[in-house]
Amino acid sequence: MTHLIDGKAYAEHLRSDIAQRVARLKAEHNITPGLAVILVGDNPASEVYVRNKKTQTVQVGMNSFDHHLPTSTSQADLLALIETLNADSAVHGILVQLPLPSHIAERSVLEAISPAKDVDGFHVVNVGKLATSQPDALVSCTPLGCLMLLNHYYSSLVPHPSTLAGKHAVIIGRSNIVGKPMAQLLLNQNCTVTICHSRTHNIESITRGADILIAAVGKPEMVKADWVKDGAVVIDVGINRVTPTLPSSASGGGLGRGLVGDVDFADVAPKASAITPVPGGVGPMTIACLLRNTLQAACAIHGVAFEH
Ligand code: GUN
Repeated sequence: MTHLIDGKAYAEHLRSDIAQRVARLKAEHNITPGLAVILVGDNPASEVYVRNKKTQTVQVGMNSFDHHLPTSTSQADLLALIETLNADSAVHGILVQLPLPSHIAERSVLEAISPAKDVDGFHVVNVGKLATSQPDALVSCTPLGCLMLLNHYYSSLVPHPSTLAGKHAVIIGRSNIVGKPMAQLLLNQNCTVTICHSRTHNIESITRGADILIAAVGKPEMVKADWVKDGAVVIDVGINRVTPTLPSSASGGGLGRGLVGDVDFADVAPKASAITPVPGGVGPMTIACLLRNTLQAACAIHGVAFEH
């Protein structure tokens, strides 16, 4: 029987643990973690993400500071706001929602965020800390969420709990947000790691060797059953909005499917030992990990021990 990895339930569990730790930080140290989110422009998908971040930040007892700027905002004005937030002692985490309008240089903006408040883990200091296995690194939220789901799955196996050590993990996708930090996290867990991407030759022959297969490319249902080894653990990071043009009877029931992953779930699930659904798999873990990173940053800034 294939195990369905329930990211929604695990994210709820994580948020309730964070809420308890936030309450303790307030009671024992009089510190309330604060997360500032900057949204430039009016990308509808970004507006939904930012709204969800705000709601969940407040739900775990943290302060939420929102800055919604017009598309026409200059890079200089955005950098000035980041400087103000870097210096604001009520703010422990700063997140600039991506993508930014094309007249703003993304790298310059990400490098302007204080590494201590970089709860997205995109600053080169945090990327370097992750690459050198330093425990105080702030780590990109989506791959961190994937790692938590994997560790939870393997450690809960009955009757023989297991670990990630020695497993061959294959990642499809080499983005700075997911693929590359995912590889570093899995290396730190003693996996053997392969990264595949759009220029990889004979990709299926590589993915078929994976004990753990992570798809993070943004191509709807690209991964099929014959890409996957029997009993593999499959993590689907893709969130693709599909808008079928054919009526449901002609498109095989495709109409109204809404979100699909990078993995063809119906095809792959019977072969996998465990798999994340879309929606309800990796997606809910991202904001939960953002809140966890904000708590970690607040603890580090105030010299309070943080339990990983
Ligand atoms: N846009 C899509 N994913 C992300 C993310 O993880 N962080 C930020 N800041 N923007 C995003």
